[in-house]
Amino acid sequence: MAEPVRYEVVDGIAVATLSNPPVNALSAALRAGLFDAVRRAEADPAVAGLVIAAEGRTFIAGADISEFGKPPASPTLAELVAALDGAAKPVVAAIHAAALGGGLEVAMACSWRVLGPKAKLGLPEVKLGLLPGSGGTQRAPRLMGAAAALRLMVAGEPLDADAAVAAGLADTVVLGDLVQAARGFAARPKPQPVSARDEGLGDRDAFEKEAAALAKRAATEPQIADCIACVRAAFEKPFAEAVAFERAAFLRLLDDPRSKALRHVFFAEREAARIAGLPKGTQPRPVARAAVLGSGTMGAGIAMCFANAGIPVRVIETDEAALARGMERIRGTYDSSVKRGSLSAETRDARLALIDGAVGLDATADADLVVEAVFEEMGLKKQIFGHLDRVTKPGTILASNTSYLDIDEMAAATSRPQDVLGMHFFSPANVMKLLEVVRAKHTSPEALATATEIGRKLAKVPVVVGVCHGFVGNRMLARRTQQAERLLLEGATPEQVDKALTDFGFRMGPFAMADLAGLDIGWRIRRATGKRAPVADALVEAERLGQKTRKGYYLYPEGSRTGVVDPEVTALIRRVAAQEGVEQREIGQEEILDRLVLPMVNEGARILEEGIAARPGDIDVVWLHGYNWPAWRGGPMHYADSVGLLHVVARLAAFAEATGDDTLLPADLLGRLAAEGRGFASLKAD
Ligand code: 3HC
Ligand code: NAI
Repeated sequence: MAEPVRYEVVDGIAVATLSNPPVNALSAALRAGLFDAVRRAEADPAVAGLVIAAEGRTFIAGADISEFGKPPASPTLAELVAALDGAAKPVVAAIHAAALGGGLEVAMACSWRVLGPKAKLGLPEVKLGLLPGSGGTQRAPRLMGAAAALRLMVAGEPLDADAAVAAGLADTVVLGDLVQAARGFAARPKPQPVSARDEGLGDRDAFEKEAAALAKRAATEPQIADCIACVRAAFEKPFAEAVAFERAAFLRLLDDPRSKALRHVFFAEREAARIAGLPKGTQPRPVARAAVLGSGTMGAGIAMCFANAGIPVRVIETDEAALARGMERIRGTYDSSVKRGSLSAETRDARLALIDGAVGLDATADADLVVEAVFEEMGLKKQIFGHLDRVTKPGTILASNTSYLDIDEMAAATSRPQDVLGMHFFSPANVMKLLEVVRAKHTSPEALATATEIGRKLAKVPVVVGVCHGFVGNRMLARRTQQAERLLLEGATPEQVDKALTDFGFRMGPFAMADLAGLDIGWRIRRATGKRAPVADALVEAERLGQKTRKGYYLYPEGSRTGVVDPEVTALIRRVAAQEGVEQREIGQEEILDRLVLPMVNEGARILEEGIAARPGDIDVVWLHGYNWPAWRGGPMHYADSVGLLHVVARLAAFAEATGDDTLLPADLLGRLAAEGRGFASLKAD
């Protein structure tokens, strides 16, 4: 492998050029190379100063996250930063692109930071449940003032080049030759190190005000509380002591399960982007124009996704009236964003200009990708796919947004099953980030690559899944829904069930969610499929359809969207339980949580066994971005690993025995991993 740091001296200035693809993370080898460059420059009497420059798409993306949890190798990042700070000769950071986390900490330990126009400076550690752990909480406040530095850290979002200079974090933006300009700085006398610039901390009251405004986040996110404490230490402790204080906080956070979960999410999201088993060199097809069939709840949102990404899209309906309603739905959604101030009127107009409407499927003739979002009826969908096959161009990708139905059956209605797949968006489609890309039996690698690439262009997180009823997300959700209903029969109240999940970190519990969506939706599906849910059915029969009738699982007083407990529901549940012959009892919060979550994990294990998902991390990404699973819990499969699979297996087996419900029996894969003392994380994709 090539050396990660190239060192050369020209005209009395040394330049250390970093090259550690893909993102110049501060691996042990990069740290050693850079440390060595500092020592060489210091030792060489012919060298007046050192420039640190980098090649590639980032300056330095930060500490190497994949090294976290392994024994630290010397020189550590802290030692490297200390060497830069204490160097007798000036060191200049020539930052052409992103300097993040430890990358910015390295730059802040230099004498100057000289930026190219594409530079971005940020401290994103909080997103990983961490804080800047190599002097960042001490140097950023000395460069930009404590209040602004705290803002930068807790936001985790980078500043662009001009903003970084305006904030005092960097010295100048260079439009020409960046390294040449940095060399000019390196020839100057060394200024006072940033660590000694206490006057830069600024007004303590302004900092305390900023800190007080963060009280709510600080109460639930330990890394926010620690950021505040560390910046406060900059006012109260000598520099070296404050750095030690920061280090201790960083190490504590590194060991916190919440940070471990967030780091798992970081890698799982990136891994999900790689399609398992795709032949090397598979090229996605270009998509210049899209068409969306149906402009109801989903179709309208999906069309907006294309327009938001700058891709012209045609919305197709069965008649003019339905089309007019759909276009109005789209316009209305954009208008409310303009009213809220999250979208400018010009942007709205530009996006609307990319959406046109038509009646009849023949209007798909010039589309490169068609997303079908009509009623959930197999007969209708097959007829539509047959029609699309006749009128679309060869190579057009034909996608269905179906929630549950068999994509293979739709593909069989065409003469080109290789171009057919699922693109399953989540409601509201213009907001939720998940896109399940459903690979059917004959889907070609190109079609799959095209759908995932388009997904990314639409700012979605695409996850490839296989064909089965409900794919990954809804199939697992069904297990939770089943248990939630069952818990009511056994004696839990709707608010106890909801609270178990909101305490866990979900924004809403299943019953508050059902009231919001409307209870008639599930009821209609159950009627069509011959299934029953005695409590839910009884509520619908009592005309309690949720928020729209101001009563469902809860009561909604006039004008309120927050439900209150309704004694009538308690009585109704008791009555239904008696009819069903289920004895009611007190159920503790812990059991409720386990009954809701562990059956999902069990279904996730079956999904892995069947190869419907390629990796446990893919399932986690589905739940994070499709159902707002709390990120700091890492997703259901990571959660199962964190509580231990032996425990999961024992709980499921006990539930199966107590309820007589065989679906709760631990899946083979789960049992096997638990017996071998392994976790889901130990499974490797093909
Ligand atoms: N450590 C290890 N690997 C990293 C990494 C890091 N800090 N940052 C990115 N990578 C890897 C990714 O896992 C990915 O690997 P893969 O190709 O094998 O999947 C590859 O680099 C490319 O990453 P992206 O796909 O994310 O590339 P983009 O170009 O879309 O984004 C980026 C680049 C903006 C730098 C983005 O990767 C990113 O946000 N990285 C994390 C930045 C960060 O959080 N830094 C702080 C680290 S913690 C720290 O520094 C602690 C210190 O304070 C002590
Ligand atoms: P919807 O009932 O709101 O909209 C369906 C639209 O399709 C209607 O406007 C109808 O006029 C139109 N339509 C019917 N036949 C058509 C045809 N032949 N050509 C063109 N348009 C036609 O339904 P919704 O909720 O948008 O669902 C659509 C699909 O998306 C279904 O398959 C559903 O399972 C799936 N889905 C729904 C989600 C949701 O939360 N509503 C989430 C994810 C997927």
